[in-house]
Amino acid sequence: MLEYKDNELTIDGLKLKYIAQTHKTPLYVYSMNQIKKNINKIKEVFEGLPLKIVFAVKANNNIQLLKRLKDLGVGADVVTIGEIEAAKRAGISYSDIVINGNAKTEEEIEYAIKNDFFMINIDSADEYEIVENIAKNLNKKPNISFRLNPDVDPKTHPHISTGLKKNKFGINLEVGYLLIKEAHKSPYVNLKGIHTHIGSQILQVSPFYDAFLKVKELLRKLEKRNIQIEYYNIGGGWGIDYHKNGEGLNLNEYREKVIPLLKSMNVKIIFEPGRFLVGNAGILVGKVLLTKTNEGKKFIFVDIGMNDLIRPSLYDAYHHILPVEDKNAPKIIADIMGQLCESGDKVAQEREVPEMEKDDYMVVCDTGAYGYSMASNYNSRPKPKELLIENGKIITIRERESIDHMFSLIPD
Ligand code: LLP
Repeated sequence: MLEYKDNELTIDGLKLKYIAQTHKTPLYVYSMNQIKKNINKIKEVFEGLPLKIVFAVKANNNIQLLKRLKDLGVGADVVTIGEIEAAKRAGISYSDIVINGNAKTEEEIEYAIKNDFFMINIDSADEYEIVENIAKNLNKKPNISFRLNPDVDPKTHPHISTGLKKNKFGINLEVGYLLIKEAHKSPYVNLKGIHTHIGSQILQVSPFYDAFLKVKELLRKLEKRNIQIEYYNIGGGWGIDYHKNGEGLNLNEYREKVIPLLKSMNVKIIFEPGRFLVGNAGILVGKVLLTKTNEGKKFIFVDIGMNDLIRPSLYDAYHHILPVEDKNAPKIIADIMGQLCESGDKVAQEREVPEMEKDDYMVVCDTGAYGYSMASNYNSRPKPKELLIENGKIITIRERESIDHMFSLIPD
Protein backbone atom coordinates (compact mmCIF):
# COMPACT_ATOMS: atom_id res chain seq x y z
CA MET A 1 0.00 0.00 0.00
CA LEU A 2 2.83 2.45 0.91
CA GLU A 3 5.75 2.63 -1.46
CA TYR A 4 8.47 5.10 -2.35
CA LYS A 5 8.57 5.96 -6.04
CA ASP A 6 11.25 8.39 -7.19
CA ASN A 7 11.90 9.16 -3.50
CA GLU A 8 8.28 10.13 -2.91
CA LEU A 9 5.93 8.13 -0.74
CA THR A 10 2.82 6.85 -2.53
CA ILE A 11 -0.33 5.18 -1.30
CA ASP A 12 -1.79 2.69 -3.74
CA GLY A 13 0.31 4.37 -6.44
CA LEU A 14 -0.82 7.95 -5.68
CA LYS A 15 1.67 10.58 -4.53
CA LEU A 16 1.11 11.60 -0.92
CA LYS A 17 2.73 15.02 -1.26
CA TYR A 18 0.16 16.03 -3.82
CA ILE A 19 -2.66 14.58 -1.68
CA ALA A 20 -1.40 16.43 1.41
CA GLN A 21 -0.98 19.73 -0.45
CA THR A 22 -4.43 19.47 -1.96
CA HIS A 23 -6.37 18.29 1.09
CA LYS A 24 -4.25 19.87 3.85
CA THR A 25 -3.07 18.22 7.03
CA PRO A 26 -3.65 16.56 9.45
CA LEU A 27 -5.31 14.10 7.15
CA TYR A 28 -6.39 10.48 7.52
CA VAL A 29 -6.05 8.43 4.33
CA TYR A 30 -7.36 4.87 3.97
CA SER A 31 -6.78 2.22 1.33
CA MET A 32 -9.81 0.20 0.26
CA ASN A 33 -7.45 -2.23 -1.39
CA GLN A 34 -5.77 -2.98 1.93
CA ILE A 35 -9.12 -3.40 3.71
CA LYS A 36 -10.15 -5.96 1.11
CA LYS A 37 -6.86 -7.81 1.57
CA ASN A 38 -7.45 -7.92 5.32
CA ILE A 39 -10.96 -9.35 4.89
CA ASN A 40 -9.61 -11.98 2.54
CA LYS A 41 -6.93 -12.96 5.05
CA ILE A 42 -9.60 -13.48 7.70
CA LYS A 43 -11.67 -15.61 5.34
CA GLU A 44 -8.61 -17.68 4.49
CA VAL A 45 -7.83 -18.34 8.15
CA PHE A 46 -11.39 -19.44 8.97
CA GLU A 47 -11.86 -21.46 5.79
CA GLY A 48 -14.09 -24.46 6.42
CA LEU A 49 -15.83 -22.90 9.42
CA PRO A 50 -19.25 -21.23 9.28
CA LEU A 51 -18.23 -17.61 9.84
CA LYS A 52 -20.00 -14.31 10.39
CA ILE A 53 -17.76 -11.23 10.50
CA VAL A 54 -19.03 -8.20 12.40
CA PHE A 55 -16.77 -5.15 12.36
CA ALA A 56 -16.12 -3.45 15.70
CA VAL A 57 -17.42 0.00 14.81
CA LYS A 58 -15.50 1.53 17.73
CA ALA A 59 -12.33 1.06 15.67
CA ASN A 60 -13.60 3.31 12.88
CA ASN A 61 -17.07 4.76 12.58
CA ASN A 62 -16.78 6.30 9.14
CA ILE A 63 -20.11 5.52 7.50
CA GLN A 64 -18.58 5.45 4.02
CA LEU A 65 -16.16 2.75 5.18
CA LEU A 66 -18.95 0.85 6.94
CA LYS A 67 -21.00 0.94 3.71
CA ARG A 68 -18.17 -0.65 1.81
CA LEU A 69 -17.67 -3.26 4.53
CA LYS A 70 -21.36 -4.06 4.32
CA ASP A 71 -21.02 -4.59 0.56
CA LEU A 72 -18.25 -7.08 1.35
CA GLY A 73 -20.61 -9.02 3.61
CA VAL A 74 -19.46 -7.62 6.94
CA GLY A 75 -21.92 -6.75 9.73
CA ALA A 76 -21.39 -4.55 12.79
CA ASP A 77 -20.45 -4.93 16.44
CA VAL A 78 -21.75 -1.87 18.27
CA VAL A 79 -21.72 -0.60 21.84
CA THR A 80 -23.72 2.63 21.83
CA ILE A 81 -26.72 4.26 20.17
CA GLY A 82 -24.24 6.32 18.17
CA GLU A 83 -22.57 3.21 16.78
CA ILE A 84 -25.97 1.64 16.06
CA GLU A 85 -26.83 4.79 14.11
CA ALA A 86 -23.52 4.64 12.17
CA ALA A 87 -24.24 1.03 11.19
CA LYS A 88 -27.82 1.87 10.28
CA ARG A 89 -26.82 4.85 8.13
CA ALA A 90 -24.35 2.59 6.36
CA GLY A 91 -27.27 0.35 5.45
CA ILE A 92 -26.18 -2.56 7.62
CA SER A 93 -29.29 -4.53 8.42
CA TYR A 94 -30.31 -5.01 12.05
CA SER A 95 -30.05 -8.75 11.56
CA ASP A 96 -26.31 -8.23 11.01
CA ILE A 97 -25.73 -6.21 14.18
CA VAL A 98 -24.34 -7.57 17.43
CA ILE A 99 -24.57 -5.33 20.49
CA ASN A 100 -21.88 -5.45 23.18
CA GLY A 101 -21.11 -3.45 26.29
CA ASN A 102 -20.74 -3.97 30.02
CA ALA A 103 -23.43 -1.49 31.03
CA LYS A 104 -25.90 -0.90 28.22
CA THR A 105 -28.63 1.65 28.80
CA GLU A 106 -32.26 0.53 28.78
CA GLU A 107 -32.66 2.63 25.64
CA GLU A 108 -29.95 0.61 23.88
CA ILE A 109 -31.36 -2.72 25.01
CA GLU A 110 -34.88 -1.74 23.99
CA TYR A 111 -33.65 -0.63 20.60
CA ALA A 112 -31.84 -3.92 20.03
CA ILE A 113 -34.86 -5.98 21.08
CA LYS A 114 -37.43 -3.97 19.12
CA ASN A 115 -35.35 -4.19 15.97
CA ASP A 116 -34.43 -7.88 16.20
CA PHE A 117 -30.66 -7.49 16.33
CA PHE A 118 -28.64 -10.55 15.41
CA MET A 119 -27.44 -10.88 18.99
CA ILE A 120 -27.41 -9.11 22.33
CA ASN A 121 -24.26 -10.00 24.25
CA ILE A 122 -25.14 -9.96 27.93
CA ASP A 123 -22.37 -8.96 30.30
CA SER A 124 -23.74 -9.67 33.79
CA ALA A 125 -26.49 -11.40 35.76
CA ASP A 126 -28.10 -8.01 36.38
CA GLU A 127 -28.13 -7.24 32.71
CA TYR A 128 -29.72 -10.60 31.97
CA GLU A 129 -32.57 -9.68 34.29
CA ILE A 130 -32.99 -6.29 32.62
CA VAL A 131 -33.01 -7.84 29.13
CA GLU A 132 -35.55 -10.48 30.15
CA ASN A 133 -37.83 -7.85 31.66
CA ILE A 134 -37.68 -5.56 28.66
CA ALA A 135 -38.27 -8.52 26.33
CA LYS A 136 -41.27 -9.60 28.40
CA ASN A 137 -42.75 -6.09 28.28
CA LEU A 138 -42.19 -5.76 24.57
CA ASN A 139 -43.51 -9.24 23.93
CA LYS A 140 -40.41 -10.06 21.92
CA LYS A 141 -37.91 -12.91 22.14
CA PRO A 142 -34.40 -11.57 21.45
CA ASN A 143 -31.38 -13.63 20.49
CA ILE A 144 -28.95 -13.48 23.34
CA SER A 145 -25.47 -14.58 24.09
CA PHE A 146 -23.47 -14.40 27.33
CA ARG A 147 -20.11 -12.68 27.37
CA LEU A 148 -17.90 -14.87 29.49
CA ASN A 149 -14.66 -13.86 31.14
CA PRO A 150 -12.35 -16.87 30.78
CA ASP A 151 -9.66 -15.33 33.00
CA VAL A 152 -6.71 -15.63 30.64
CA ASP A 153 -3.92 -13.13 30.27
CA PRO A 154 -3.89 -11.70 26.74
CA LYS A 155 -0.38 -10.30 27.36
CA THR A 156 -1.23 -6.91 25.94
CA HIS A 157 -1.37 -3.33 27.26
CA PRO A 158 -3.32 -3.29 30.58
CA HIS A 159 -5.78 -0.69 29.20
CA ILE A 160 -6.85 -3.03 26.42
CA SER A 161 -6.88 -6.30 28.33
CA THR A 162 -10.42 -7.49 29.03
CA GLY A 163 -10.38 -11.21 29.73
CA LEU A 164 -8.83 -11.30 33.19
CA LYS A 165 -11.04 -11.68 36.20
CA LYS A 166 -9.91 -8.28 37.50
CA ASN A 167 -11.23 -6.62 34.29
CA LYS A 168 -14.71 -5.15 34.22
CA PHE A 169 -15.93 -7.25 31.30
CA GLY A 170 -17.78 -10.54 31.14
CA ILE A 171 -19.22 -13.13 33.49
CA ASN A 172 -17.05 -15.71 35.19
CA LEU A 173 -17.43 -19.23 33.89
CA GLU A 174 -19.24 -20.66 36.93
CA VAL A 175 -21.88 -17.92 37.02
CA GLY A 176 -22.05 -18.08 33.22
CA TYR A 177 -22.89 -21.78 33.40
CA LEU A 178 -25.78 -21.09 35.78
CA LEU A 179 -27.10 -18.21 33.68
CA ILE A 180 -26.93 -20.26 30.49
CA LYS A 181 -28.97 -23.02 32.14
CA GLU A 182 -31.52 -20.45 33.25
CA ALA A 183 -31.73 -18.70 29.89
CA HIS A 184 -32.09 -22.03 28.13
CA LYS A 185 -35.41 -22.54 29.91
CA SER A 186 -36.58 -18.94 29.64
CA PRO A 187 -39.64 -18.24 27.50
CA TYR A 188 -38.46 -14.63 27.03
CA VAL A 189 -35.09 -15.05 25.29
CA ASN A 190 -33.51 -17.22 22.61
CA LEU A 191 -30.23 -18.43 24.01
CA LYS A 192 -28.06 -18.52 20.92
CA GLY A 193 -24.48 -18.04 21.87
CA ILE A 194 -21.45 -17.65 24.03
CA HIS A 195 -19.07 -14.74 23.65
CA THR A 196 -15.52 -14.03 24.74
CA HIS A 197 -13.29 -11.07 23.93
CA ILE A 198 -10.09 -11.23 25.94
CA GLY A 199 -8.38 -8.05 24.81
CA SER A 200 -7.00 -6.12 21.90
CA GLN A 201 -3.68 -5.97 20.02
CA ILE A 202 -2.93 -9.56 21.04
CA LEU A 203 0.25 -10.80 19.41
CA GLN A 204 0.40 -14.35 20.73
CA VAL A 205 -1.76 -17.28 19.72
CA SER A 206 -1.76 -19.00 23.11
CA PRO A 207 -4.17 -16.64 24.96
CA PHE A 208 -6.78 -17.27 22.25
CA TYR A 209 -6.18 -21.01 22.46
CA ASP A 210 -6.42 -21.03 26.25
CA ALA A 211 -9.65 -19.02 26.27
CA PHE A 212 -11.29 -21.12 23.57
CA LEU A 213 -10.32 -24.33 25.35
CA LYS A 214 -12.06 -23.13 28.50
CA VAL A 215 -15.17 -22.39 26.44
CA LYS A 216 -14.98 -25.82 24.85
CA GLU A 217 -15.01 -27.44 28.29
CA LEU A 218 -18.04 -25.39 29.20
CA LEU A 219 -19.80 -26.41 25.98
CA ARG A 220 -19.15 -30.08 26.85
CA LYS A 221 -20.65 -29.55 30.27
CA LEU A 222 -23.69 -27.96 28.69
CA GLU A 223 -24.07 -30.70 26.11
CA LYS A 224 -24.31 -33.22 28.94
CA ARG A 225 -27.39 -31.28 30.03
CA ASN A 226 -28.70 -31.28 26.49
CA ILE A 227 -27.99 -27.61 25.97
CA GLN A 228 -26.63 -26.94 22.49
CA ILE A 229 -25.06 -23.59 21.75
CA GLU A 230 -25.31 -22.50 18.11
CA TYR A 231 -22.85 -19.59 17.99
CA TYR A 232 -19.51 -18.90 19.56
CA ASN A 233 -18.59 -15.23 19.25
CA ILE A 234 -14.82 -15.22 19.66
CA GLY A 235 -14.53 -11.41 19.90
CA GLY A 236 -11.78 -9.51 18.12
CA GLY A 237 -8.28 -8.84 19.36
CA TRP A 238 -5.92 -9.80 16.53
CA GLY A 239 -2.75 -7.76 16.90
CA ILE A 240 -1.10 -6.00 13.98
CA ASP A 241 2.52 -5.32 13.13
CA TYR A 242 2.89 -1.71 14.34
CA HIS A 243 6.67 -2.02 14.58
CA LYS A 244 6.86 -3.34 11.01
CA ASN A 245 9.26 -6.06 12.06
CA GLY A 246 7.05 -9.11 11.60
CA GLU A 247 5.67 -8.98 15.14
CA GLY A 248 1.95 -9.22 14.14
CA LEU A 249 -0.17 -12.16 15.28
CA ASN A 250 1.11 -15.27 13.52
CA LEU A 251 -1.87 -16.30 11.43
CA ASN A 252 -0.30 -19.55 10.25
CA GLU A 253 0.13 -20.61 13.84
CA TYR A 254 -3.44 -19.47 14.57
CA ARG A 255 -4.69 -21.57 11.67
CA GLU A 256 -2.74 -24.62 12.80
CA LYS A 257 -3.54 -24.46 16.51
CA VAL A 258 -6.75 -22.53 17.02
CA ILE A 259 -8.87 -23.40 13.99
CA PRO A 260 -8.90 -27.18 14.68
CA LEU A 261 -9.98 -26.40 18.24
CA LEU A 262 -12.82 -24.19 17.00
CA LYS A 263 -13.81 -26.83 14.47
CA SER A 264 -14.00 -29.43 17.19
CA MET A 265 -16.52 -27.28 19.06
CA ASN A 266 -19.25 -27.72 16.45
CA VAL A 267 -20.46 -24.17 16.57
CA LYS A 268 -20.90 -21.33 14.11
CA ILE A 269 -18.28 -18.64 14.59
CA ILE A 270 -18.86 -14.92 14.95
CA PHE A 271 -15.69 -12.84 14.70
CA GLU A 272 -15.55 -9.17 15.77
CA PRO A 273 -12.35 -7.71 14.34
CA GLY A 274 -11.72 -4.00 14.60
CA ARG A 275 -8.02 -3.26 14.39
CA PHE A 276 -7.11 -6.12 12.04
CA LEU A 277 -9.64 -5.05 9.43
CA VAL A 278 -8.70 -1.39 9.16
CA GLY A 279 -5.63 -0.65 11.31
CA ASN A 280 -2.95 -1.09 8.67
CA ALA A 281 -5.23 0.35 5.97
CA GLY A 282 -5.03 3.88 7.35
CA ILE A 283 -2.35 6.53 7.73
CA LEU A 284 -2.32 9.97 9.29
CA VAL A 285 -0.47 12.57 7.24
CA GLY A 286 1.01 15.58 9.00
CA LYS A 287 3.30 18.51 8.35
CA VAL A 288 6.37 19.71 10.24
CA LEU A 289 5.69 23.11 11.81
CA LEU A 290 9.18 23.69 13.18
CA THR A 291 12.05 21.97 14.89
CA LYS A 292 13.98 22.74 18.08
CA THR A 293 17.10 21.51 19.81
CA ASN A 294 17.25 21.86 23.60
CA GLU A 295 20.70 21.03 24.96
CA GLY A 296 21.18 18.36 22.36
CA LYS A 297 17.62 17.00 22.57
CA LYS A 298 15.90 17.29 19.25
CA PHE A 299 12.21 17.97 18.77
CA ILE A 300 10.19 17.84 15.58
CA PHE A 301 6.86 19.66 16.04
CA VAL A 302 4.09 18.58 13.72
CA ASP A 303 0.49 19.60 13.11
CA ILE A 304 -0.74 16.24 14.46
CA GLY A 305 -1.81 16.31 18.09
CA MET A 306 -3.10 13.89 20.69
CA ASN A 307 -6.55 15.15 19.76
CA ASP A 308 -6.12 13.62 16.28
CA LEU A 309 -4.39 10.42 17.43
CA ILE A 310 -4.37 9.65 21.13
CA ARG A 311 -2.80 6.16 21.06
CA PRO A 312 0.83 7.23 21.62
CA SER A 313 -0.18 9.44 24.57
CA LEU A 314 -2.70 7.06 26.09
CA TYR A 315 -1.02 3.68 25.65
CA ASP A 316 2.53 4.67 24.79
CA ALA A 317 1.68 3.05 21.50
CA TYR A 318 4.27 2.75 18.75
CA HIS A 319 3.34 3.97 15.28
CA HIS A 320 5.91 3.88 12.53
CA ILE A 321 6.84 7.27 11.04
CA LEU A 322 7.79 7.82 7.41
CA PRO A 323 8.86 11.01 5.67
CA VAL A 324 6.74 11.75 2.60
CA GLU A 325 9.84 12.76 0.68
CA ASP A 326 12.95 10.66 1.03
CA LYS A 327 15.61 13.36 0.88
CA ASN A 328 18.38 11.03 1.96
CA ALA A 329 18.69 13.11 5.13
CA PRO A 330 20.90 11.90 8.00
CA LYS A 331 19.12 9.91 10.71
CA ILE A 332 18.56 11.61 14.05
CA ILE A 333 16.92 10.65 17.34
CA ALA A 334 14.04 13.02 18.01
CA ASP A 335 10.77 13.46 19.86
CA ILE A 336 7.96 14.07 17.42
CA MET A 337 5.39 16.15 19.22
CA GLY A 338 2.17 18.00 18.55
CA GLN A 339 1.26 21.61 19.29
CA LEU A 340 -1.09 20.94 22.20
CA CYS A 341 -0.39 22.34 25.66
CA GLU A 342 0.36 19.03 27.31
CA SER A 343 3.73 17.33 27.80
CA GLY A 344 2.13 14.00 26.93
CA ASP A 345 1.08 15.31 23.53
CA LYS A 346 3.30 13.13 21.40
CA VAL A 347 3.40 11.14 18.20
CA ALA A 348 6.68 9.35 18.88
CA GLN A 349 9.44 9.65 21.45
CA GLU A 350 13.15 9.01 21.19
CA ARG A 351 12.57 7.89 17.64
CA GLU A 352 15.16 7.41 14.93
CA VAL A 353 13.92 9.31 11.89
CA PRO A 354 15.51 11.15 9.00
CA GLU A 355 16.10 14.79 9.84
CA MET A 356 13.02 16.80 8.86
CA GLU A 357 12.46 20.51 8.44
CA LYS A 358 9.63 23.01 8.35
CA ASP A 359 6.93 22.19 5.79
CA ASP A 360 8.08 18.59 5.27
CA TYR A 361 5.23 16.13 5.25
CA MET A 362 5.35 12.94 7.31
CA VAL A 363 3.14 9.91 7.74
CA VAL A 364 2.08 8.13 10.93
CA CYS A 365 1.46 4.53 9.88
CA ASP A 366 -1.23 2.06 10.94
CA THR A 367 -3.74 4.60 12.18
CA GLY A 368 -6.84 3.18 10.49
CA ALA A 369 -8.16 1.76 13.77
CA TYR A 370 -8.77 3.77 16.95
CA GLY A 371 -7.38 6.86 15.23
CA TYR A 372 -10.19 9.12 14.10
CA SER A 373 -12.71 7.27 16.28
CA MET A 374 -10.81 8.38 19.40
CA ALA A 375 -10.15 11.92 18.16
CA SER A 376 -11.34 14.88 20.22
CA ASN A 377 -11.49 18.65 20.12
CA TYR A 378 -8.96 19.19 22.90
CA ASN A 379 -7.32 22.62 22.72
CA SER A 380 -10.25 23.53 20.44
CA ARG A 381 -8.76 21.74 17.49
CA PRO A 382 -11.23 20.71 14.80
CA LYS A 383 -11.05 17.06 13.77
CA PRO A 384 -9.12 16.10 10.61
CA LYS A 385 -10.38 15.19 7.18
CA GLU A 386 -10.65 11.56 6.00
CA LEU A 387 -9.95 10.32 2.48
CA LEU A 388 -10.36 6.92 0.91
CA ILE A 389 -8.31 5.61 -1.99
CA GLU A 390 -10.51 3.31 -4.04
CA ASN A 391 -9.85 2.06 -7.56
CA GLY A 392 -7.16 4.70 -8.08
CA LYS A 393 -9.51 7.52 -7.02
CA ILE A 394 -9.29 9.86 -4.05
CA ILE A 395 -12.65 10.11 -2.31
CA THR A 396 -13.41 12.47 0.57
CA ILE A 397 -15.20 10.33 3.12
CA ARG A 398 -15.37 12.98 5.85
CA GLU A 399 -14.79 16.71 5.53
CA ARG A 400 -12.45 18.52 7.87
CA GLU A 401 -14.38 19.85 10.84
CA SER A 402 -14.71 23.62 10.86
CA ILE A 403 -14.40 25.96 13.83
CA ASP A 404 -18.08 26.90 13.36
CA HIS A 405 -19.03 23.26 13.42
CA MET A 406 -17.07 22.72 16.59
CA PHE A 407 -18.90 25.52 18.42
CA SER A 408 -22.27 24.97 16.78
CA LEU A 409 -23.97 23.58 19.88
CA ILE A 410 -23.32 26.65 22.00
CA PRO A 411 -26.07 29.29 21.93
CA ASP A 412 -25.15 32.93 21.14
N1 LLP B 1 -15.27 -7.03 20.42
C1 LLP B 1 -15.36 -6.42 21.61
C2 LLP B 1 -16.38 -6.85 22.55
C3 LLP B 1 -14.47 -5.39 21.94
O1 LLP B 1 -14.55 -4.80 23.12
C4 LLP B 1 -13.49 -4.98 21.00
C5 LLP B 1 -12.55 -3.91 21.30
C6 LLP B 1 -13.47 -5.64 19.74
C7 LLP B 1 -14.35 -6.66 19.50
C8 LLP B 1 -12.47 -5.29 18.68
O2 LLP B 1 -11.19 -5.55 19.10
P1 LLP B 1 -9.95 -5.46 18.08
O3 LLP B 1 -10.15 -6.51 17.01
O4 LLP B 1 -9.94 -4.10 17.51
O5 LLP B 1 -8.79 -5.72 18.93
N2 LLP B 1 -8.63 1.87 21.89
C9 LLP B 1 -7.75 0.74 22.01
C10 LLP B 1 -8.45 -0.56 21.67
C11 LLP B 1 -9.69 -0.81 22.51
C12 LLP B 1 -10.42 -2.05 22.11
C13 LLP B 1 -11.73 -2.15 22.78
N3 LLP B 1 -12.51 -3.28 22.40
C14 LLP B 1 -6.53 0.96 21.14
O6 LLP B 1 -6.40 2.02 20.51
O7 LLP B 1 -5.63 0.11 21.10
